[in-house]
Amino acid sequence: MSAQYQVSGANAASISASIESGVLNGDYVWGAALPPIRVLAGELHVSPATVAKAYQELRHRGVVESDGRRGTRVRSRPPIVGSRSGLRLPVPDGVRDLSSGEPDIRWLPSLAPALHAVADTNGPPQGYASAVAMPELIDIARPRLAADGVPVDNAVITATPGTLDAIERLLAAHLRPGDAVAMEDPGWANLIDLLAALDLRPIPVTIDEQGPEPDSLSAALRSGARAVVITVRAQNPTGAAVSAARAAELRAVLAGHRGVLLIEDDHAAELAGAPLHCLGPVTEAWAFIRSASKPFGPDLRIAVVAGDETTIARVVGRMRLGAGWVSTVLQRLLLRLWLDDDVTAKVSGAAVDYGRRRRALCDALSARGLAAEGATGINTWVRVPDETRTTGLLREAGYAVAPGSLFRIASPPGIRITISPLDDADIPPLADAVAAAAAPAGLPSPAR
Ligand SMILES: Cc1ncc(COP(=O)(O)O)c(C=O)c1O
Repeated sequence: MSAQYQVSGANAASISASIESGVLNGDYVWGAALPPIRVLAGELHVSPATVAKAYQELRHRGVVESDGRRGTRVRSRPPIVGSRSGLRLPVPDGVRDLSSGEPDIRWLPSLAPALHAVADTNGPPQGYASAVAMPELIDIARPRLAADGVPVDNAVITATPGTLDAIERLLAAHLRPGDAVAMEDPGWANLIDLLAALDLRPIPVTIDEQGPEPDSLSAALRSGARAVVITVRAQNPTGAAVSAARAAELRAVLAGHRGVLLIEDDHAAELAGAPLHCLGPVTEAWAFIRSASKPFGPDLRIAVVAGDETTIARVVGRMRLGAGWVSTVLQRLLLRLWLDDDVTAKVSGAAVDYGRRRRALCDALSARGLAAEGATGINTWVRVPDETRTTGLLREAGYAVAPGSLFRIASPPGIRITISPLDDADIPPLADAVAAAAAPAGLPSPAR
């Protein structure tokens, strides 16, 4: 906490609002400890129960987290700050930004031809009542998903403004605050933040390169998880992809927990560089989400979601009360992109190129004695003994990478390196820098 920041308030609501505004204005450093309850209660002349209630409110909104030994701290990415990019450490001039998790803009297809085609062929303006998930889009989505093994014969399909949006609606419709959600550990930082914001509890599931480990998933479900989110390929941050054998094992585990909501995240889709092994509708509530963000660009903000009738109806129903639908302009754009052979060729080329660069980086890191993973997708995960030190030293060496703390719940430390901005020639010097920065203090870096 900033030495100057003075929390004010005479009741729980005003105390929590004061702390929240301190976080919003940057007076509280993220990760900083709030004062002990009794100390703040003494300063504000209120009862400890009042301060405890204020802290509880902030916890339920995902602004702070409590951990018996370390007390109550401001979360690293509290959901009251509007811009995600504003939450990342600034990357100074001259430092390569390998921390973003963004696709390579050089491999994103130009939208211009598809936008022109949409402009030329857009039908009559859609109103509040008429706009829906367009049948033309769904008709093309269905065979595309089926070709990848998604069992869509009896599924209902809709469109949402991206994966995270779909996950939020699914969780909000099925779960209640305080419920537990099984998720990969390490796992997607935005999902960890979303769970905190919804007052849901993450239960970590360990993963290897074939996806979530069945025993760990089983333990999470037995301990009460009401939903599970599985990244089928290009897992963020490790690059794991669910194999055919693993999918069968996970299905067997889930079959014993039919009341659980199963969410499958296929965010890298055509870019993943590995075949899809969908788990399918093994529980009563199921949703498979395919995003357009990685192959076609995050700014498209559209995903298609397949699932059982009730689950999809809940998503559509919740969307009606908010954004309503995904603009049909965007839906038409995605349709055009899917049908354009040049775009398809570019996305395939991107998948091959990502694969080559990922393997080159993993090989270079392994040759330097580091434990590097990155079987699919756009990231490489490197286990290191001290991620804070490694991240700091890499910055000094000219590389910004993402610290593992953003992705970890209970798993050991690591760093995530996004390969998108890297060219072949960048890989050997980067691998040297990572090896030097990962070496424990006082020891030379591992031999090449
Ligand atoms: C695991 C995972 N899922 C989904 C997404 C993309 O989500 P959206 O469709 O909301 O852009 C990302 C983006 O990095 C991701 O890492």
